[in-house]
Amino acid sequence: MKAVVYDGPRTVSVKEVPDARIERPTDALVRITTTNICGSDLHMYDGRTDLQPGMVLGHENMGEVIEVGDGVDLVKVGDMVCLPFNVSCGACANCNQGLTAYCLVANPAPGMAGAAYGYADMGPYAGGQAELLRVPWADFNCLVLPPDARDMSRQKDYVMLSDIFPTGWHATELACVRPGDSVAVYGAGPVGLLAAYSAIIKGANKVMVVDRHPDRLRLAEQIGAIPIDDSKGSPVEQILEQTGGMGADRGCEAVGHQAHDPSGQEKSALTLNNLVHSVRFGGTIGVVGVFIPKDPGSPDPLQKQGKAPFDYGMFWFKGQSMGTGQCNVKNYNRQLMNLIANHKADPSFLVSHELKLDQAPEGYRNFDVRADGWTKVVLHPDGGR
Ligand SMILES: NC(=O)c1ccc[n+]([C@@H]2O[C@H](COP(=O)([O-])OP(=O)(O)OC[C@H]3O[C@@H](n4cnc5c(N)ncnc54)[C@H](O)[C@@H]3O)[C@@H](O)[C@H]2O)c1
Ligand SMILES: [Zn+2]
Ligand SMILES: [Zn+2]
Repeated sequence: MKAVVYDGPRTVSVKEVPDARIERPTDALVRITTTNICGSDLHMYDGRTDLQPGMVLGHENMGEVIEVGDGVDLVKVGDMVCLPFNVSCGACANCNQGLTAYCLVANPAPGMAGAAYGYADMGPYAGGQAELLRVPWADFNCLVLPPDARDMSRQKDYVMLSDIFPTGWHATELACVRPGDSVAVYGAGPVGLLAAYSAIIKGANKVMVVDRHPDRLRLAEQIGAIPIDDSKGSPVEQILEQTGGMGADRGCEAVGHQAHDPSGQEKSALTLNNLVHSVRFGGTIGVVGVFIPKDPGSPDPLQKQGKAPFDYGMFWFKGQSMGTGQCNVKNYNRQLMNLIANHKADPSFLVSHELKLDQAPEGYRNFDVRADGWTKVVLHPDGGR
């Protein structure tokens, strides 16, 4: 099969690799019809993880089931399915509590919890930027989609259930967003935009989104959020002005450890500290941007060790609380699917490019430099048939 393979920093190529296949009775084999490039892929693409060359990338996947193992009961050949980026067993103590991002079984590395397709340190599972994907524990992991998911134009919405729509929603859950709240979101990439979109669906009163890329800020405005351009002045000051001087009720972080100032200088704690200052006394903050325990490729000596100069004094003084981590996609994907099926949510508003699998290197290059107009890249391994 053809697949997108990581060759080393800032190099991916489309290669022939051995076909994905059923390996255990609980597996399903999926023919991928739509798969995305994610901001999380860029941390690996930039060489900021210890991903070994040769890994097939891709954790935002959907397609048609073409084969199931003998132990699969619910999922049928011919079903259109969307797969959570988390690979999880469905039966361990953490999965039982809904913590599928921290499955105790799926990642064989000692002392580790949580697995994903095509991702550094997240188990041996090949990614879905490929013609075929092996889905372990298929009955648990496959979200069977409604019939309109066969329609390519609808797949742009449904595929977002694999990661960024649930992750945006998760940011608002960690931040405890309620109707009537004001919400500050840092990052207008796909995750930040869908955190803002989720807050709006939940009935937030005022949603502000910080970034410096005009194309991304335009999308924020298009969905009804207030764009805050941090290249034009302090984002904290702009948010305080919008919130009577005391700050937003809730804050969402959707940037992660490669946060930088508008001139491009990396400061890994910049968004965390800006949030402490942008959110009110007693407010709550949800952090879904990825931070990592070791970051040897960082220019900053502290960040190299996974440490951040966090304004803990002010955070404590303001009595704020913070929730963090990977999204447990299964907690939200079925409900969000219903919103898509009934046209109450259309997360595809952020898709700028639909490419063939062969064009993945071009997609990575442009998305990585946040080239103007490249807001979300969707790949069709079958050429969009
Ligand atoms: N927790 C999870 O389960 C989960 C799932 C998916 C993605 N993520 C992470 O979420 C983050 C965002 O993903 P994405 O796909 O939107 O990525 P992206 O890289 O496309 O978007 C990040 C955006 O942040 C902006 N930015 C950089 N520094 C900033 C700053 N100081 N202030 C405000 N904005 C700033 C960039 O200009 C960019 O538009 C990444 O770290 C990704 O790995 C986490
Ligand atoms: Zn993703
Ligand atoms: Zn589990």
